[in-house]
Amino acid sequence: MSRDHLTINRDLWNRDAVNWVEVGERLWSLETPVWGNWSHPDDGLNLLPADLTGTQAIELGCGTGYVSGWMIRRGAKVTAIDISTEQLAVARRLAHEHGADITFIEGNAEQTGLPDAAFDFAISEYGAAIWCPPDVWLREAWRLLRPGGRLVFLGNHPLSLICSPLNGAPCDTTLHRPYRGMWGADWTEVEFEPSGICFNLTFADWMDLFATIGFAVTKYQEVYAPEWSSGTRGAVPADWAKTYPVEQVWHLHKTA
Ligand SMILES: C[S@@+](CC[C@H](N)C(=O)[O-])C[C@H]1O[C@@H](n2cnc3c(N)ncnc32)[C@H](O)[C@@H]1O
Repeated sequence: MSRDHLTINRDLWNRDAVNWVEVGERLWSLETPVWGNWSHPDDGLNLLPADLTGTQAIELGCGTGYVSGWMIRRGAKVTAIDISTEQLAVARRLAHEHGADITFIEGNAEQTGLPDAAFDFAISEYGAAIWCPPDVWLREAWRLLRPGGRLVFLGNHPLSLICSPLNGAPCDTTLHRPYRGMWGADWTEVEFEPSGICFNLTFADWMDLFATIGFAVTKYQEVYAPEWSSGTRGAVPADWAKTYPVEQVWHLHKTA
C-alpha cells in the first residue's frame, strides 16, 4: 500500500463529517449501545464490559465519540483519538452536551504519542479498525495496554470485501476479489460512492498478526444485519447482510 492513506482518510473524514452529525447525535442519546452499520443491538455482542469503573479506556478513531460516551457512563476514564478535526469538533460538542468529561486528542491512532501501558481497555468501531494498517495500529494498541488489558474492535467482514465489485457497487454473491493476499481496498477512485483507503486481512493473517504482536483471541463474532433491516448501507444490501456476515468483532487481550 504505497498511497498516503493517512492524508487521504483524514481529508475524506473532514469532508464527510457533516453527514455523520445526525447519527452521532442519535447514538449519543441511546442508553444501550448498538453496533455497526445496521445498529445491531448489543444483546450477545457485549463489546463493552458492563462495568468499567476505575478503568482507563481509549477509543482509537472515535469519530463523533458516542462509544466513548457509553464508556464514560459505565465508569471509565476515557481518552479518545481521531485524525479528523471536523469529526472531533462534533464529538467535543456532543460530549459537552452530555456532560461527558472525555480527553479528546487530534492525532493518528497508529502513533498516538501516549505513554506505554496506560490503558486497561481499548476499542475501535470502524475507526483504526478499518482505516489503519493492522500491523501498525495493532502494535500501537498493544503498546498502550497494560498486560492483561483488552482490545475490542469491529469492522467489515473479509467476506463482504471479496463480494464487493471493483467499481464500488453494492456487495453481491460473486467473489469479485482474491481472498489470498487480501490487504484491504482503495475506494478513492471507484465509480460508486468513492471514499478512502480501508484495510482488512484474511482470517489466517489476522490470527498470525495477533500471535506475533502478543494478543490472544478471547472471542470472535460475526455480525449479520437484523431481520427488520432493509435498503443498502455502506454499499451492502440488507438481504446480503442477513445471509452473510457483514461485520466481524475481535475480542483480544494482551498476553505479554
Ligand atoms: C466511521 S468513523 C468511526 C468512529 C465512530 N464509531 C463513528 O461512527 O463515529 C471513522 C473515524 O476514523 C477516523 N480515522 C481514520 N483514520 C484514522 C487514524 N489514522 N487515526 C485516528 N482516527 C482515524 C476518522 O477520522 C473517522 O472519524
